[in-house]
Amino acid sequence: MSEEGEFAPNFAEICASGNRSSLEEYGRFQQHLVLLEDRGRVARYNAALDQLSPGGVVVDVGSGTGVLGLLALKKGFEHAFLIEPSRKMAAYARHLAHANGYGECVTILEQALEHVDLDRLPAQIDLVVSETLSSLLFGFGSWDSLPSLVQRVTRGGHIIPSAGRLYVAATSSSFATRGPDSDGLALLRSVGLQMDLFERTFRSGGNVYDKATVIRAIQDRTLIPIELARFDVTLPELIRFDRAVLDSTATAYATGLMLFWEVELAPDVKMTNLDPVVTSWYPLYVPLRRPVQLPAVVELRLLPIDAPYKYAFQFESEGEAISHVLYW
Ligand SMILES: C[S@@+](CC[C@H](N)C(=O)[O-])C[C@H]1O[C@@H](n2cnc3c(N)ncnc32)[C@H](O)[C@@H]1O
Repeated sequence: MSEEGEFAPNFAEICASGNRSSLEEYGRFQQHLVLLEDRGRVARYNAALDQLSPGGVVVDVGSGTGVLGLLALKKGFEHAFLIEPSRKMAAYARHLAHANGYGECVTILEQALEHVDLDRLPAQIDLVVSETLSSLLFGFGSWDSLPSLVQRVTRGGHIIPSAGRLYVAATSSSFATRGPDSDGLALLRSVGLQMDLFERTFRSGGNVYDKATVIRAIQDRTLIPIELARFDVTLPELIRFDRAVLDSTATAYATGLMLFWEVELAPDVKMTNLDPVVTSWYPLYVPLRRPVQLPAVVELRLLPIDAPYKYAFQFESEGEAISHVLYW
């Protein structure tokens, strides 16, 4: 059961068969409430917006409730285009815009960015703001289409976030707060059932809830983080993947990878999922399919599958898959 290849459904076919309900994945109010309750996240986006000279048009990509577009209007932008594929969230964003007196200043496009006819957006955009971040930074299809929006940003205009770095470190300790060795999964294993969902899961919000342990391990060099990927709006391709050469002072073999990120929302406003005040994201621990001798070259592959978001993820070393495919 645990051999890769035995679980490889054709998600693209499932979605093409007319079942697009996957895009309703984010139509859960609870999820958006958690995002709004995250003081660290809200404060940093708010601080970044405060740095701008407001005016003109803002495009909010993955607007959800519309909070970022509405904040921009509050600060003096004149019109907000909210791009949001979840019909339920788009309807709620419309309600919120009216409730806050911005009904006339908002255009809602109920689609994923990659499906939006760009002619429906202005040729000149003053601000692109987006929070389609995951514990691996990327993975929403919106990232593929961001370069075409970036091209439309006026001289003196802004993009939030403007840059980000994804870091990886080798480890032989399982940092995940819960995993196959704890809780119900461990019980199921003890009665002889193999459940490999943890190993195949990409937790968009991360899975290491004790951030202090990770910070301490970085400080004492038990974890040696290396840049694995970056985005930067000044790069023509927006996203660049690196080959990270991993090593460790604590182990000769890696059995897992620890991942975390930092994004730049404004020149002096940075946000990292290692920050305890940020409660929407945590670092991500990914178990490896077999121990990997260090030093080792590690690369991240994005696999288009469209279920429910555009990409699944897999880690490779020297052309060999070292993790399972990680599905949302
Ligand atoms: C993390 S939420 C952020 C919501 C809101 N901007 C906020 O800051 O609270 C990401 C949003 O992006 C939307 N989304 C997912 N894929 C998308 C895509 N390809 N294009 C545009 N929006 C997308 C989701 O439906 C979700 O509402």
